[in-house]
Amino acid sequence: MIDTTFTYSSPFPDTFVFGVAAASAQIEGAAFTDGKGESIWDHFSRIPGKVANGDTLDVACDHYHRFDEDFALMASLGVKHYRLSIGWPRIFPQGDGELNPAGLAFYHRLFDSMDRHGITPWVTLFHWDLPQSLEERGGWTSRVTVDAFARYADTVVREFGHRVKNWITLNEIRCFTMLAYGYGTKAPGRRESAAVVNQTFHHALLCHGHGVRAVRAFGGEGARVGLTDNCDVSVPVTESPADIAAAEAWFLDKNLHVLGAIHGKGYAPAYLDRVGADAPRVEPGDFDLIGLPTDFLGLNIYTATYVRAGRSGERYDALSLPPNYPRADSAWLHLVPQAIYWATRMCHELYGHDAIYITENGCGYNDERVVNGEVIDLHRRDYLRNHLREVHRAIADGVPVDGYFLWSFIDNYEWEDGYQRRFGIVHCDFETQVRTPKLSAHYYTDVMRTRTVL
Ligand code: NOJ
Repeated sequence: MIDTTFTYSSPFPDTFVFGVAAASAQIEGAAFTDGKGESIWDHFSRIPGKVANGDTLDVACDHYHRFDEDFALMASLGVKHYRLSIGWPRIFPQGDGELNPAGLAFYHRLFDSMDRHGITPWVTLFHWDLPQSLEERGGWTSRVTVDAFARYADTVVREFGHRVKNWITLNEIRCFTMLAYGYGTKAPGRRESAAVVNQTFHHALLCHGHGVRAVRAFGGEGARVGLTDNCDVSVPVTESPADIAAAEAWFLDKNLHVLGAIHGKGYAPAYLDRVGADAPRVEPGDFDLIGLPTDFLGLNIYTATYVRAGRSGERYDALSLPPNYPRADSAWLHLVPQAIYWATRMCHELYGHDAIYITENGCGYNDERVVNGEVIDLHRRDYLRNHLREVHRAIADGVPVDGYFLWSFIDNYEWEDGYQRRFGIVHCDFETQVRTPKLSAHYYTDVMRTRTVL
């Protein structure tokens, strides 16, 4: 929503949503409890050499057993919105087939507790924990997964539609397709051809469509749905018309296969030219699902590529970062706060989105220790402050950013980087399960309370 009275010195609008985020597999633990099936990450993490220190998701933050105290802590920090995901293998241990009532019961208990603590749920249907049984039948390379997801989405939205009104279909398609089936760094760790990887994208887009369809069919009054994308973000080297135009051209090119696709009636000619014979197989009716209108766009923003106008006639020049460019301990996480400004502005101006949520933003560091009861994570406070300022600038410039979810509420299982990489504003001691809010948590509490970037 655009507010024309908003200026650079206004507090964040009253309707602006501040929240925190996490995901089922990364925090719940209880990986084989109450009938939960094996996920591809349970499987992958047991293959030697795939995950740092051989860390598994077996216990994680033990949120499965401690959610009530976690929500009490969230509430005490002033958090009113929490983005979580539902673990598909808890609901359908084999992905399809038999339903596990204990899985549904767990999420009812969880939502009851959130209710008691005054926390609104924002629920992602799929955050990477594909049931292993589906992987054994082709995983994202197969339409079997699409059919299974359609049933899973229908089941979950029917079950929880009366108490969940904000739905996110999928989290970061690139990560569970390209990185998982192309580069092999994420579960299931396959290295397939470009044609196969493009097909996994197509199947993911179909599942996004099924998620939207399920929410429209069973979400009830007031239900809203959108995709969370980790688009490739460009930042113009100078905020001049020529560099901005170059950054926009790069952004459109890089995001053709996800953002481009969900807005179209088919893949764009530029995409089809690029992939040539490796184009995905599309069946009649696929784009009726993929192109279903959504209510908002979720963006996970962490970093960006700097782009400037081409020097000798090219449309753009994307710069490699010098080795001493600042970054977090996550090797990919270069610090480019303007990423939030440009990603939201481009999604608004180029695709017409008029409700955008930052569904994740945060930073991962190692070796954050509790000393005298405190974790002085000034590096994270700085990261958050710089990014929140860019969210605020976007709103002041008329970009409809309606909310911000900080990743993450608590240190958790950072996929192939295991537990050493900490993204939380709450420290988790994985030996004792003691939680300690870091300095950044107290900082964020003050930001939420004053609705100002302090
Ligand atoms: C993206 C993912 O959605 C989340 O699961 C991950 O932990 C964070 N980014 C940090 O890498």
